[in-house]
Amino acid sequence: MIAGGIEIETPLCLAPLAGVTTLPVREFFSQHGASLTHTEMISCAGLIRDNAKTFDMLKVSEHEKPLIVQLFGNDDTLVVEGAEVVLKMGVRFSGFGVNMACPMPKITRNGSGAALMKNPELAAKMVKGLKGLGLPVWVKTRKFENDDDTLRFVEVLAEAGADNVCIHGRTCAQRYEGVADREIVRKAADRFPGLIGASGDVKTSEDIREYLSFGCVEIMLARGIICNPYMFEEFGGHVRTQEGRLAEILKFSYRAEELSGEHKALVLLKRFAGSVLKYSRGSAELRRQAMTADSVYRLREIIRTGAMNYDNRIYTDRDMLKEDNV
Ligand SMILES: Cc1cc2nc3c(=O)[nH]c(=O)nc-3n(C[C@H](O)[C@H](O)[C@H](O)COP(=O)(O)O)c2cc1C
Repeated sequence: MIAGGIEIETPLCLAPLAGVTTLPVREFFSQHGASLTHTEMISCAGLIRDNAKTFDMLKVSEHEKPLIVQLFGNDDTLVVEGAEVVLKMGVRFSGFGVNMACPMPKITRNGSGAALMKNPELAAKMVKGLKGLGLPVWVKTRKFENDDDTLRFVEVLAEAGADNVCIHGRTCAQRYEGVADREIVRKAADRFPGLIGASGDVKTSEDIREYLSFGCVEIMLARGIICNPYMFEEFGGHVRTQEGRLAEILKFSYRAEELSGEHKALVLLKRFAGSVLKYSRGSAELRRQAMTADSVYRLREIIRTGAMNYDNRIYTDRDMLKEDNV
């Protein structure tokens, strides 16, 4: 299928997640059911200033599925220049993403992220400028307080040439709290067929199916995959045993260490190990130990203990949402 000018196998995508969607994580999800992934949001100012940390975030591998590089900035010239730096690196990204969704003050304060929702003219200039570089442009934004304002903003982006607009159904004021509004996503998908992607509270296969029934072209999995890293596969009908889940996380631990070094690997591993250990016997204690582990080596030991103590039940995505039912 084609979504937003990019050929993908299914509509299931890994959302951009700062601090999470690093190379080993993207690779893991590329191999576990995601059809497209995103980088973390990349500062165009950092790209132009030659910031080493920013460039580090642009490392890719040949094992990844189509990948969007998500940019942020407060000026259209800056964003286009940042995108040109990316192109000059010679890395084959499938599209440019633009962050018009991040509500955090350190991003909005200087006019980037969700601040662009208040400046549709500038948002449109950014999209037009990026379109001139020849790759598909995917915008990620949020719902406004008022549905008409949301639809008007999407219209501005569409007229500027955006190939895809993903709507997170929470307002900027809500940040990541409360329930994501699906109705506005449905209305937008209805009004702009073929253009809208969905984000917000995608935690089960039913959530995915509901967004698909609205006509969304892609569904972006975010915190849901931290609760259950196998959600992509489960939607495709592939359910792993607890032993299988932990075995894959162990493999991930080695790859993350190889690609990102011990410190970053430990941080990433803690994000996923906690949720996967949930269904081993004695999970509360194992998870406590996992969270306080001071090395990847120690964390692997804990995961191996979890892999030896399971009841071989097959857990579904609904089970994975429940807290401590072991
Ligand atoms: C830790 C974290 C980091 C995020 N980083 C980004 C980001 O870099 N760019 C972006 O567009 N959205 C970012 N988001 C928003 C998510 O992509 C997603 O839209 C949001 O979490 C709503 O989906 P959910 O309710 O399923 O988690 C982030 C969210 C979280 C929780």
